[in-house]
Order: sequence, then structure tokens, then C-alpha cells
Amino acid sequence: MMAGAAGAQAPDPKKADAGQKVYVAQKCSVCHAIKNSGGKSASALGGVGAKLTEGDIRKWLTHTAEMESKVKPKPKMSMASYMKTHKLSDTDVDALVAFLISQK
Ligand code: HEC
Repeated sequence: MMAGAAGAQAPDPKKADAGQKVYVAQKCSVCHAIKNSGGKSASALGGVGAKLTEGDIRKWLTHTAEMESKVKPKPKMSMASYMKTHKLSDTDVDALVAFLISQK
């Protein structure tokens, strides 16, 4: 994806590729869609890199319950519950952040 098109502010493309693999392996698409592919029980992540800051994206992955508690109305499918059985390593989080911030 976007090979060779990395602009000055683009995240490390290797990290973003690794992040896409984590996204697939952790089945984030059970609830989220990117480019019309994936679930509809949570917001689509296709434009998340333009919507949220890098810091907020990271917080969604490291402090999921805290972030989710601010969502009104309360979501029917809980990402916080899901993440209890889908633990992310620090490397996974870094890669996912690079992948998601590149979704604009
Ligand atoms: C069980 C369903 C579910 C799964 C699986 C899930 N999420 Fe979520 N996610 C949610 C819900 C619910 C919200 C909060 C409400 C919303 O944004 O629709 C959310 C919010 C987010 C947000 C903030 C979106 C925004 O626009 O504000 C990000 C980023 C995110 N999730 C990333 C991920 C990643 C990465 C994975 C895989 C590791 C994942 N999610 C797996 C349900 C899920």
C-alpha cells in the first residue's frame, strides 16, 4: 500500500505494513471497516488518521476501556471486552498506530 509514495509526514511504511498484519491477525475487522470491508458495529477506520491524533489512536489501543467509556451512547459491541482476550504487545501497538494514522 502506497509503496514509494511516502510524504514528509508519512509514518514509516514498513511499520504501517506490519500494523496492517496485526490488524488482520487481531481481527479488528470483526467490528471495524476500512474501505467498505469489515464489520459495521463500530465506526469505520478508513479516515481515522484524519479524524484522530496519533496520541488518541494510541490511547484507544492502550487505554481502551477509558476511551470507550466516553462514547455515548454506550456501544453495543465492546472493544474493551474484546481486547481482554486480544492482548497487544508494545510492538503491535506501535505498528497499529502507524497503520491507522496512514488511513486518511
Ligand atoms: C468487539 C468490537 C470491536 C473490535 C473487535 C475492535 N473494536 Fe475498535 N472500537 C469498537 C467500538 C464499539 C468503538 C467505539 C465506538 C466507535 O468508534 O464506533 C471502537 C473505537 C475504536 C477507535 C476509535 C475510532 C474513532 O473513530 O473514534 C479505534 C482507533 C479503534 N477502535 C481501533 C481498533 C483496532 C486497531 C482494533 C483491533 C486491534 C479494534 N478497534 C477492534 C469496537 C471494536
